[in-house]
Amino acid sequence: MAYDKKQATEEFGRWSESYDRCVLQWLLFGPSHRALIRRIGAVAEGRPASILDVGCGTGVFASRVREAIPDARVVGVDLVSDMLTQGAHRWRALADAVHPVQGDSERLPFASGSFDFVTCANSFHHYPNQERAVAEMHRVLKPGGRLLLIDGYRDAPWGWFIYDVCVTYREGNVHHASAQRFREILDRAGFQAVAQKVHRGPAPFLLNEAIAAEPAPLYPAPHFHLRTPATAPREAEV
Ligand SMILES: C[S@@+](CC[C@H](N)C(=O)[O-])C[C@H]1O[C@@H](n2cnc3c(N)ncnc32)[C@H](O)[C@@H]1O
Repeated sequence: MAYDKKQATEEFGRWSESYDRCVLQWLLFGPSHRALIRRIGAVAEGRPASILDVGCGTGVFASRVREAIPDARVVGVDLVSDMLTQGAHRWRALADAVHPVQGDSERLPFASGSFDFVTCANSFHHYPNQERAVAEMHRVLKPGGRLLLIDGYRDAPWGWFIYDVCVTYREGNVHHASAQRFREILDRAGFQAVAQKVHRGPAPFLLNEAIAAEPAPLYPAPHFHLRTPATAPREAEV
């Protein structure tokens, strides 16, 4: 049976109380947050940045990014209110710059073109309709804004064992997308300059980075196409 939002709500409702103390904080979540913060710092280059963190959980990443990039304004959105509630002390402490919102990745409750960055860490495999979630991420980004999407890397034997065998056994029929599948979904949503980097380690993960294209022109395109050069370097191709 396919994993659905009712299962996600039950799973994270149960897990929320112990979530911040689990071993994955050290094995996977911490390293993935550091990778995101490095990229945001490198791209923003000291300019103020508005960030939407999709599947933000208890707000650990939101508070880390705010600590590392003091000008950042962060909105965290999560389906499961128990996860947001567990992070209440963080949201309160950073109330001037960090805001939690309860909502679904597949129907983001924000206006189009609102954010410089959309981040999503360790949450994507829970989304029943991943294409729709990526289309929503594209919609809420400003033209030229950047998506940074991390999930478990399951294309090599160790990652396959962890994510497709162990995680699936524990969480149910979640879906870790392959690198190829990520590229297809991102291309289809209209993202450009897609780059992917594998982070090796005990819990390997894949960082997908892409730029939101300009909106479609108001008038019909001429018979020739002006191509915008890809601005993000292709890092380590998978
Ligand atoms: C493993 S946690 C990751 C939390 C955080 N991003 C981190 O790196 O620590 C996955 C999160 O995704 C959230 N989630 C699951 N399905 C979701 C959906 N459809 N929309 C938004 N959030 C969702 C869960 O509630 C949970 O908080």
